[in-house]
Formats: sequence, structure tokens, C-alpha cells
Amino acid sequence: MARPTLLVLSILLLVPYQPKSRSIPKTGGGLPLLEKEEAVAGEEGEEAQRQRAECEGRWIHIRDLPPRFNTDLLRSCNAFPLYDDGDFCPYLANHGLGPRTHNRSWSWYRTDPHMLEPLFHRRLLEYPCLTADPALANAVFLPYYASLDSLPFLYDPALFNSSALHGRDLAELLRRDSPAVWARRGGNDHFLVLAGPAWDYSQDPDADPRLWGTSFLHLPDFLNVTVLALEARPWPWQERAVPHPTSFHPATLARLDAWLARARRARRTNLMLFAGGGGGGGPNIRGSIRAECENRTDLCEVVDCSDGACTHDPIRFMRPMLRSSFCLQPPGDTPTRRSTFDGILAGCIPVFFEDIGARTQYGWHLPKDRFEEFSVFIPKEEVVFGEVRIGDVLGAIPPSEVRRMRELVLELAPRVMYRRHGSSAGLRARKDAVDLAIDGVLRRVRRRVRVLEEGDPDLLVYDGDDDDRS
Ligand SMILES: *[C@@H]1O[C@H](CO)[C@@H](O)[C@H](O)[C@H]1NC(C)=O
Ligand SMILES: *[C@@H]1O[C@H](CO)[C@@H](O)[C@H](O)[C@H]1NC(C)=O
Ligand SMILES: *[C@@H]1O[C@H](CO)[C@@H](O)[C@H](O)[C@H]1NC(C)=O
Ligand SMILES: *[C@@H]1O[C@H](CO)[C@@H](O)[C@H](O)[C@H]1NC(C)=O
Repeated sequence: MARPTLLVLSILLLVPYQPKSRSIPKTGGGLPLLEKEEAVAGEEGEEAQRQRAECEGRWIHIRDLPPRFNTDLLRSCNAFPLYDDGDFCPYLANHGLGPRTHNRSWSWYRTDPHMLEPLFHRRLLEYPCLTADPALANAVFLPYYASLDSLPFLYDPALFNSSALHGRDLAELLRRDSPAVWARRGGNDHFLVLAGPAWDYSQDPDADPRLWGTSFLHLPDFLNVTVLALEARPWPWQERAVPHPTSFHPATLARLDAWLARARRARRTNLMLFAGGGGGGGPNIRGSIRAECENRTDLCEVVDCSDGACTHDPIRFMRPMLRSSFCLQPPGDTPTRRSTFDGILAGCIPVFFEDIGARTQYGWHLPKDRFEEFSVFIPKEEVVFGEVRIGDVLGAIPPSEVRRMRELVLELAPRVMYRRHGSSAGLRARKDAVDLAIDGVLRRVRRRVRVLEEGDPDLLVYDGDDDDRS
């Protein structure tokens, strides 16, 4: 048990970084993490002035939540059978990035998707425009580890029927504790991270019998909150999708560029790759892909990821992705996949089989109107029930076109990557998945607040189209 405890402690080191303290270290030579109040009240130094200009409209306040809503949840990392090969304690290391893949690796980690919650929290603590005063904030972050807090409802048989209670405690707290913070905008300026697909958290609260999942997204208390989830529903109200975290978390621009150069140079001897599991049962897209690949081993490679074999082992699929031109990204249990983002980092052009696999999801990170330029779309029905062979479609794309697509994929790669906390100033100047999510939240909150001030809350229903960079 010594190991999990140590790892839990490593993540509890979040605490010294609380923005209230003035002792926040410089993160790699950039601006110190000043608070707005201090910046304004102090003798406006050049740096404070610069920060004020830079942070105009971008101030974020982090709600101070009791640890039972975040870091305490990490302590029960060995209480739930999340994986066949054990608990998720090892993946708490490095503030949620997980252990490094091997000793000499600087940028590659065994990252677990649930860790998006602590990882995002850690990154927000070094956000340059934090304010201790909620009344000055443009947005308010709730450091709630929502998916980790759902585990008892999913895995404890005694609580299975109570899954409509997920999130009630937090709602209670927000009503009771500094109610003015919430009341200022009716919660419309609050946001949180939910490291899972929204489907798992949108069960009808009255459902009987209860199915897998909770009703968190149905709690009336949180309907105004922007929820950053790994996958949104087709007609989302409060959630927005953010990229699944991959295993690549560089800390400097040089490491990012070295990797992208490697992906650019890679010899792509294989036409297409499918890294995944599934495909059994009746006719389905994964089954069709497997059948086609078994027939055409000359142009298709399969990496078998059944039973979670790839979840914490990026080495299994990154090399095959580097030698393939196209990566097939069929839906599985849910429409989106982490593999889409692994593939993009490897310069492997994604092939989608339905729009909800990415195009209608990640508008803040991948330009919705340019999907044709960096991905291929083949409707799944045409593959499963029609005569369409994926290899024929991809083989017919001229090499010059393939090169152009790959170049754009690699240009977009930094936008879907989660850089390491405490990265160099050079790398921080590039927007990564967290930066773009924060930009998106701020745009969305601005729009919602404007609508509220104009006095027609019904308009909130139509705010789906907030991908633009206004
Ligand atoms: C990695 O480092 C640890 C501790 O320094 C050492 O015990 C282990 O053998 C190393 N593993 C490899 C594969 O080199
Ligand atoms: C949960 O509810 C179902 C009926 O909806 C019931 O059959 C089952 O026994 C309940 N489980 C527990 C642990 O109470
Ligand atoms: C959500 O926002 C609307 C519009 O401001 C407000 O009327 C409502 O009370 C808010 N809901 C909660 C739970 O605060
Ligand atoms: C596989 O090859 C066989 C024999 O050539 C052919 O009948 C079958 O349609 C092929 N299946 C796929 C999925 O390409």
C-alpha cells in the first residue's frame, strides 16, 4: 500500500499551488502568477500593467471547495475495479499525467482519461489571470472531480440505485456557501470538467430500474454551468466536448517540435491502421473494418486493443500510427475515441464514419469547416451495408493530397495536446487543449451574460453556435 499513498501525496502537492498564496513559483521564467487585486492595488509596475491588459475579460476565479470534492477523491483510487489489471492509483503520478512510459522519456506518460479532472485543475492553478475576488472574475472554475465522484454510484452495488444523487452534495454546498458568488450570474459563469462522455451522466433521474451512469447533467442546479466533457450529446445544453487526453505532454517547445518533425519525416509504408477492439456481434463498422483488414494485410494493419490493452500503453499504437497514412476512427461504445487524438499527434490522417465522432464535437479545437482538408469521411452504412471498401476510397486519394492533409493534421496537433504543467514560456505561448477550452468557456460565458443582461433567457437555448473566435 506504500505506493498508492506516495502517489496520492504527490498529487496532493496541488495544495501548495493554491492561488491564495503569494509564494507561487514562477513557472519557467514567465510572469509570476499575480492576483488581479494585487496587480491593481500595487504601484502599477510595468509587469502589472501588462498583465492587466493581457487579462482584460479573461479573469478566472477558482472556487475554494472542500477537499472531499476533489483531492480527497484521489485517495480512494484503489477502491474501484476500474481496470482489469487493477486500480488507478499509479495514474495519479505527475499531477494526473501518470507515470512516464519509461525512464528516459520526457514527454510520454501512461495517462488515464479520468485524470483529466486533476490535470485540468493543476493547469488552471498556473493560469496567468487568476483573481481571488469572484466579483472581478469573468468566469468561475469549480475544481470538482466530477467523474471520480461518480465512482461509488457506478461500482458500489448498495449505491447503484441512488445514482440520481451524484452532485447533490456540491449543489447543496453552492447554495449555502458564499451564495453571492453563484447568484451574481445564476451560475452561468461557472464551469467544471467531467472526464467522461456526457451520456454516462445524463440518465433520467426517475429511471427505474437504474442503468449504468448517473443523472448529474440533469440536476437543475447545474443546468447553467458549462461542463467540459470528453464527449457531448448530439444536442447538448450545458456540456462542450474537449479532446481526450493522450499520452504526450511535452514541457518545452523544442520537445514538441522535435516530435512533430519526427511525425513529419516518418516513412508511411502502411495505408491504413485500426487500433481498437470490438467488432463482434451483428453487422457493425468495427466488424467490417476487421474483415477488410484481414483480407488486405498488404495495406491495413490492426493493433488489437481489446480489453483495454492500449489504455495505458501508448507504445503499442504510436509506432504503428507513425508508419500509417490513415487512422480509422470508428465509433465504439460511444461515438468519440481517444485514438483520434493519438492519431493526429502521429500525423496519421483520421478517417471518420459519422459526424458525431469529432466534427460536431470539438469545434473549439478542430475547425469544423475544414474537416475535408484534414480528414476523410466515409458514412458507416456504406461500409457495413454497401459495397464501399475503405481501402479503395483511401487508395484513390492522390499522394499530393495526402501530403497536404497530413501537413494540416500536424499543424492542428498542438491544439489537441495537453502540455505538461509548468511548461516553458515558449511552449505556453502556443495554445494547447486547455488554453483553447478556456478561451471557449470565456466566449461562451460572455455570450450568456450578454443574453441575460439583454433580458431574454430563452435565447440561451440557441447558444450552440459559439465556436467562432469573437
Ligand atoms: C528506471 O529507473 C529505476 C529507478 O532509477 C530503476 O530501478 C529501473 O530499473 C529503471 N528501469 C529501466 C527500464 O531502466
Ligand atoms: C435497485 O432497484 C431494483 C428495482 O428497480 C431492485 O430490483 C434492486 O434490488 C435494487 N437494488 C438495491 C441494492 O436496492
Ligand atoms: C439559471 O439561469 C437563469 C437565468 O439567469 C436563472 O433564472 C436560474 O435561476 C438559474 N438557475 C440556477 C439553478 O441558478
Ligand atoms: C475478402 O476476400 C474474399 C475473397 O476474395 C471476398 O469474397 C470477400 O468479399 C472479402 N471481404 C472483404 C470484407 O473485403
